[in-house]
Amino acid sequence: MTDKRTHYGTLEIEPSDLKDKMDSGENLYILDVRTPEEYKTWKISYDKHLEPSLVPLDKLSSEEMIRNIPKDKEVITVCSHGMRSKMAAEYLSQLGYDVKSIRGGMVAWNKINDVALIPCLSDRNMKIWQIRRISKGCMTYLISYFNDAVVIDPPCSSVTSIFEIAKNNDLRIQALIETHRHADHLSASRTIAKETGAKLYLSSLEEYETEPSKINGLDLNFLDDGKRIEISKGLSFEVIHTPGHTAGSMSFRLETLSEGGKPSKKEIFLFSGDTLFVDGIGRPDLHDRIDEFSRTLFLTYKKLSALPDDAILLPSHYSKSMKHKEPIFKTVGEIKASVKAFRMDENEFISFVVSSIPPQPMNYNRILRLNKDLLFCNILQLDDLEAGPNSCGIQS
Ligand SMILES: [Fe+2]
Repeated sequence: MTDKRTHYGTLEIEPSDLKDKMDSGENLYILDVRTPEEYKTWKISYDKHLEPSLVPLDKLSSEEMIRNIPKDKEVITVCSHGMRSKMAAEYLSQLGYDVKSIRGGMVAWNKINDVALIPCLSDRNMKIWQIRRISKGCMTYLISYFNDAVVIDPPCSSVTSIFEIAKNNDLRIQALIETHRHADHLSASRTIAKETGAKLYLSSLEEYETEPSKINGLDLNFLDDGKRIEISKGLSFEVIHTPGHTAGSMSFRLETLSEGGKPSKKEIFLFSGDTLFVDGIGRPDLHDRIDEFSRTLFLTYKKLSALPDDAILLPSHYSKSMKHKEPIFKTVGEIKASVKAFRMDENEFISFVVSSIPPQPMNYNRILRLNKDLLFCNILQLDDLEAGPNSCGIQS
């Protein structure tokens, strides 16, 4: 008698192993067996695998559909949780295909990260890692100067990657910074703070749990416009209040030290959270004050326009497909030239924003509430809570 579990086991692949195969350029055929509606909402889109084929499970037995599935490639089936895709893999295996089903489906794929290094040309002692959730588009930053490090906007699903980088590079995480209270992912700041003893920096204008009995042991620090987070001489962030996506959103300006007293060699990095992206603007509607927040966002972009054109913008989201190890950033000058919202007057801007709002992130009210309470990752059920595509910005 066939042991179903063993047999299925040989027909499954871990999401991280699939990413390794993709990154090494293996010849794969991704086959999504969900419904067209599910596929349209959210699908695998990473590096060269931009448009997986779609054959819903109930259509898989059709000869016409089968004919299109190549036999000279490894077939990877996917569904939402890995059940339908396992059945598809079983069926295709019987037809002689080399096939594997993604264990845990899209929900498990949603936890996979890719890491890229942001070039920092002016100071070799500074390193900036961009840790990207390839499915959700969340981007976290780990910035180090010698052995001191700061983490900006860490989600629970990136904790392992963050600790791995810190360990491999002998870094001490000294501070965690939240650009704002997030609505799309669960924050790992408290978990990392507990593990490392790092200080946690939050906007003074966002609502967080501050009851001492509930945040016991946390070194909490609240930020206002113009303040500074000083970790060391080379690792110092200026806080810039950039409201509109949320009332208390903060951006963080980091300047490298001048080399040999040559100011022209300095680089400026702006960690903009969900306020401004390389290809769009933040959405102002998640707090039920869309008109007010749109106007505020307009003023924020006026403020950011004053940054030097060569300042490098590092946002906390990206809405397009990522490429392995390819960092995502643009200069402020490039963004001003390409993001049309920067060329609009106030009324034009507000009507553009109000008419371009994308669907709201799944479970965003629940995630907002959980992030208010600064909870530990191990008590949170991430899987279905964070399912769904990136929807934090407006393409512009
Ligand atoms: Fe956000």
